[in-house]
Amino acid sequence: MAKIKFTLNGRPMEVESGTTLLEAARQAGIEIPTLCHHPALSDFGACRLCVVKVEGARNLVAACVTQVAPNMVVETHAPEVIEARKMILELILANHPLDCLTCDKCGDCRLQDYAYEYEVAGSGFDGERHDYEIDDSNPYIIRDNNKCILCGRCIRACSEIKGMHILDFAGRGFNTKVTPAFDVSLAESDCVYCHNCVSVCPVGALMPKELAGKARAWEVTKHEVTCTFCDFGCKFDLVKKGSEIIGVQARTGGAGRPLCLKGRLGLELVYSSHPVRKPLMKKNGEFVPVDWEEALRIRAIVNRIESLKD
Ligand code: SF4
Ligand code: SF4
Ligand code: SF4
Ligand code: FES
Repeated sequence: MAKIKFTLNGRPMEVESGTTLLEAARQAGIEIPTLCHHPALSDFGACRLCVVKVEGARNLVAACVTQVAPNMVVETHAPEVIEARKMILELILANHPLDCLTCDKCGDCRLQDYAYEYEVAGSGFDGERHDYEIDDSNPYIIRDNNKCILCGRCIRACSEIKGMHILDFAGRGFNTKVTPAFDVSLAESDCVYCHNCVSVCPVGALMPKELAGKARAWEVTKHEVTCTFCDFGCKFDLVKKGSEIIGVQARTGGAGRPLCLKGRLGLELVYSSHPVRKPLMKKNGEFVPVDWEEALRIRAIVNRIESLKD
């Protein structure tokens, strides 16, 4: 592949054609903040937090969606870049509940990390705030749109990894939000609770319900396990507090790693110190307790084998 020469923060660099400024910076060990970018998903260029300065360009450009061009001169941390990032963080915080004290995402939240890094303690923009009802309608995901930063990662994970298209943007301007079609709750949608969306959410807007209130981020350790219920081999984390496994969390899915509820519950049954006693399945629109044979589809497989014997 053709190579392109350019200058990054005063240093000459050479990258393959098609490389984005974000990828080039990361290759050089330079960190650029990102919120809507995720390596497993297509790029969207929505949050603009990754802006950088390109000599000769009229405006700052988003590094995640701009490819390196020959002889470009790029600065990732120029004073105007830092100012723009601070302003973007302030605009996000203007409509964000600052409840880090009690938020389960505290300590593992991108917005919190960047606010700290860029010394943005709050917002100078005083305006209207949303007061959305928290969607607690199902046993697996807590959806709090008040904390959503509209990065669109969940929408892309649901459609690009799972092929489900459950979530999408709705409304306009200040009233834009992420929701299932017709603004129904997740329980009323066709969501299969694979947690692809949860695993990519950079803030506390989509959280695993089974871990809610069990531990702060810094109190847990995570140990990777591979699901063996089918050939995809999805990756999960056993979440441990001390020596106790308090839950099983989906790692981000991706090509060939779709994630599913069966895998997560099955691993919880195998590993957790306090596994879910009765799994819940949606039947006729209601969550009802079922036995593990049914939840893991073992009963259906046994029935099928028995019917083949007849
Ligand atoms: S849990 Fe899976 S199916 Fe449900 S909204 Fe999230 S990504 Fe889509
Ligand atoms: S719910 Fe999370 S992942 Fe989805 S758009 Fe909001 S902040 Fe982004
Ligand atoms: S999580 Fe589901 S799709 Fe992934 S390996 Fe396990 S059973 Fe297969
Ligand atoms: S990370 Fe580049 S625009 Fe959001």
